[in-house]
Amino acid sequence: MNYLPQIKTIESTMTIAIQRKGRLRQPSEKILRTLGISVNSEQIKLIASCDNTGAQVLFLRDDDIPEYVLRGAADFGIVGENVLYEKASPLQVVKKLGFGKCELLIAVPEHSKFKSAINLRGKRIATSYPRLLQTFLDRLGVKVEIIKMEGSVEVAPQLGVADAVCDLVQTGKTLQAHQLRPIVTVMQSQAVLVRSPMNSVNIDL
Ligand code: PRP
Ligand code: ZN
Repeated sequence: MNYLPQIKTIESTMTIAIQRKGRLRQPSEKILRTLGISVNSEQIKLIASCDNTGAQVLFLRDDDIPEYVLRGAADFGIVGENVLYEKASPLQVVKKLGFGKCELLIAVPEHSKFKSAINLRGKRIATSYPRLLQTFLDRLGVKVEIIKMEGSVEVAPQLGVADAVCDLVQTGKTLQAHQLRPIVTVMQSQAVLVRSPMNSVNIDL
């Protein structure tokens, strides 16, 4: 993969932040291994020094990765674009990594009459991505009530808490399991490598 030449020159003092739990964990570990940084999958400590290279790995909540990288606690981070843009993070994206691909979609109950975002004017949409959703709807001039949830968003319509959801979809199984039908894509996302502005590591970009 062509991102390797860019980061192979990094010194052993580098710190890289990856997701602790979730879908990006395994592929992120794989990238580290390709760089010679071996990570024990059973790792419980949230900060680990890699014996063979001296590099340090931080295992973080994905939502927190941009902040740690921005403040220089990590030189690099692997994080989803969805997180980066929801946080309006100013971090520089070094490379799109080609995994963790998913879409942020608006979905509605299968048998509802809603066909487009415009039909949702004045309705309630549950999401963990209020900023991205708001920006998307503002462009369309559609005002809705955004209900912020931390997770398990797909359950909100059947519980009468929302008329629609805006959530990430990878395989589509979660939508299907909750009888939801996508109506519009808000953004596409994948994992990216971000670099700290305080990064003094010599890197050939
Ligand atoms: C994510 C996302 C969807 C689901 C999509 O949830 O928020 O719910 O995965 O995946 P699928 O299309 O392959 O079914 P996650 O498992 O991260 O849980 P959370 O929403 O509770 O954080
Ligand atoms: Zn979810």
